[in-house]
Amino acid sequence: MADLSTVFTGIRFENPFLLASAPPTESETNIMRAYEAGWGGVVTKTIGLHPVVNVRGPKTKFLRVDNGGTRLSMAKRPDSTLVASWNWELISDKPLDWWIGRLSAIKKTWPNKVLVASIMAGSGNDKELANWQTLTRAVQDEGVDAIELNFSCPHMDRVDMGANVGKDPVLCSVSTQAVKEVARVPVWVKLTPASADIVEEAAAVFRMGGDAISSSNTFPSLPLIDPGTLDFEVNVDGYVASGGLGGPAILPQSLAKMAQMTQAFPDREFSGIGGISTFAHALNYFLLGCGTVQVATAAMLDHAIGPNVIKALTSGMTEFLERNAERGWTSLADFRGLRRGHVVPHARIGRPDAADYHGGYDDDAEGYARAEEFAPAR
Ligand SMILES: Cc1cc2nc3c(=O)[nH]c(=O)nc-3n(C[C@H](O)[C@H](O)[C@H](O)COP(=O)(O)O)c2cc1C
Repeated sequence: MADLSTVFTGIRFENPFLLASAPPTESETNIMRAYEAGWGGVVTKTIGLHPVVNVRGPKTKFLRVDNGGTRLSMAKRPDSTLVASWNWELISDKPLDWWIGRLSAIKKTWPNKVLVASIMAGSGNDKELANWQTLTRAVQDEGVDAIELNFSCPHMDRVDMGANVGKDPVLCSVSTQAVKEVARVPVWVKLTPASADIVEEAAAVFRMGGDAISSSNTFPSLPLIDPGTLDFEVNVDGYVASGGLGGPAILPQSLAKMAQMTQAFPDREFSGIGGISTFAHALNYFLLGCGTVQVATAAMLDHAIGPNVIKALTSGMTEFLERNAERGWTSLADFRGLRRGHVVPHARIGRPDAADYHGGYDDDAEGYARAEEFAPAR
């Protein structure tokens, strides 16, 4: 019998599919609708203590390509296919006080669904680190099951917030440590993909007691320029700032980041995010070792909270388990991580004559580095 339930960071999920922190989880009405639709859990829109004022005009747009054509544009039109979302939305524009009372009410109404509170503060001084602790205490007193630290928002001007924390192992350490000092629930950390070596930030988080890593947030990017008007397709008074790319375009890129981390920390827990709208997409993350996955863009485009997406994810997983029943697979634990070891250095990939390639090293030249460890198995 197919069993979709799973345990992740000690929390039981009826299925491993969550709504990611984004507009689908910006209000209690959305979150309750999401639970009703079948999502195993949600991560709230990120809650902070600083005032948030969003840009004028649209905060998110969707890049599409003409079916059978090459035109890439955000213009909403028939006969086109989604490539990516692009957003420059900030964190929740509702203050912490707005969430207090609502989080506990959500949990009371849906005790068996998982509620994760995403929070964000700065990390550059003691006052900011105390803000992390204020947020942690406030949301855990509301009864949330876990906390996700946002080290990944791509549109921060502050050098000690969002993705600027996630690019710096030291800032990752101090913020995780501050939260872990007061947290009584599991602490997940959402890292930015805009880092040179994400394994370094993941190591800093785990060293300080982080319970799981979520990845990826959106990738830094710009909207395209309209060849007619010569304006960015999203702009205010002609100006644009770097925003975040999500949706199908980032699935392969997010997988590359995830593979680096699950290989470096095979015994740790990971929540995969980026480009998921079907079980086939989610399966990539599971096979690399993730224990849950999260969805944003696809849910936004499906009645704001993804009722059809979650149906497709759960029925896709059930069918997958039934198809593989003869292997004895009944749950995620039976196939999680099966392809983690299949991402290898380039030199390990088969060649017509394996002996001729040594990973770019000049194996026999005097004065050059030897690299026996990269030599393909013979
Ligand atoms: C409009 C929008 C707002 C978002 N806001 C947040 C946020 O407040 N906190 C956060 O951690 N991630 C935020 N994200 C990132 C998503 O949670 C997710 O990591 C990203 O969109 C990749 O997933 P996807 O490909 O399913 O969209 C936002 C994404 C979008 C599109």
